[in-house]
Amino acid sequence: MYSASPLLLSTSATLLAGDRVFVGNQPDDFAVGPLAGPADTVCVLGLGYGGSLRPLLAASPASRITAVDLDPDMVTVTRALFRQHFPGTDFRTQVADASVFLEGSERYDLVVIDIYAGESYPDFVLTEPFWRGVRGAVAPGGTALLNAWGLPEHLRPLTPPSPQHLLAGLLTPLWPHATYLSCRRNMTVVLRDTREDDPAETLRGAEAGRGTRLSPVDEAVLALQRLRLVRAADFRVPADAPAGDTGRAVPRTPEQLDAEMARRWPEMLAEVRAHADAAGADASVVGSREFYRRREVAVPTTLELARHGHPAAALLPNVAAALTFGGDTSLGWYGDWIADEAESLAAEYPEWLTRTALAQALAMAANPLVPEWPWTDRLLKRTSAVTAAS
Ligand SMILES: C[S@@+](CC[C@H](N)C(=O)[O-])C[C@H]1O[C@@H](n2cnc3c(N)ncnc32)[C@H](O)[C@@H]1O
Repeated sequence: MYSASPLLLSTSATLLAGDRVFVGNQPDDFAVGPLAGPADTVCVLGLGYGGSLRPLLAASPASRITAVDLDPDMVTVTRALFRQHFPGTDFRTQVADASVFLEGSERYDLVVIDIYAGESYPDFVLTEPFWRGVRGAVAPGGTALLNAWGLPEHLRPLTPPSPQHLLAGLLTPLWPHATYLSCRRNMTVVLRDTREDDPAETLRGAEAGRGTRLSPVDEAVLALQRLRLVRAADFRVPADAPAGDTGRAVPRTPEQLDAEMARRWPEMLAEVRAHADAAGADASVVGSREFYRRREVAVPTTLELARHGHPAAALLPNVAAALTFGGDTSLGWYGDWIADEAESLAAEYPEWLTRTALAQALAMAANPLVPEWPWTDRLLKRTSAVTAAS
């Protein structure tokens, strides 16, 4: 699972590190596939440089993986990378267009969809025939996982117009019990026939990953994934979302999504300010970088938002983690706080803590692009206390 020689690959498609399985990015969440249901056979649509393979195998070492990618060069490079750095990792590859590959394909226990052309969805991913094909490729009782990129949790990604809203409209008729885990601007949508946990499946999920020797950080991330799956939010259009056509096109490209984020930003800030006021914190710094730097403002405001189940409670965790992926460690205090208080926060704000706050603190600890934090060991101890108690 780990490379004997140093490897750090950071591209727009993939973040891969030789000394860790989980790197704090969305493909880490594909480890929930084997926790959600059977995973003897797995089909990964969108191989990239293979960032999703080891998270899957960490949870399910015996899975037989077939990975499909349109780009023959990417497949060749990825095979060479894995041969050199992870020779014990076994997977098949196929160069094909995912939409064509699914036609008449065999069925898989788990189908993982992580397909992007450049940084946008190819058009077919946002159409119903593709999802009917995916539905047909999932074996009975199996699972599909989708990396859905777009708007972050704090900007209400399931409210239109957004790609996640469009996808919810396409997917809920096919999988009425869909749920999701959020990871900054991506979400991992979990598509299963039921969201009730069958006791046999729960037991199997609890066993998943056992027998794989993982580093302490990887072990903690995998342990939290079990809890994140149990607490995953419903993937459906919120009841208070505007009905019908909003009159605005669905943003698809990075530029369109940035513009949609900018459009939603002032309203979210006004809500954060109101919660800062209610918490008795200095609301005047909301909207500036001071907000994130001043722990005495950011913490009570965020907890006030979490107390009300407000999506903007994800703002601080998402910004703290996102900055570290740009190499900026100035919000390290956020991880330090969670490392100190995860257990009491889990008691008071269980959903926020497991869905967002602890997940993003662990993402900061797993991130290979920044030096190790002084609080990492403490965070791992608290994570095992939280996961053991749940
Ligand atoms: C974001 S990357 C996948 C990242 C990968 N899961 C990882 O974690 O390393 C998206 C991939 O989708 C592939 N892709 C784009 N269009 C495709 C298509 N029509 N069929 C198959 N693969 C496609 C691209 O070549 C690219 O490698």
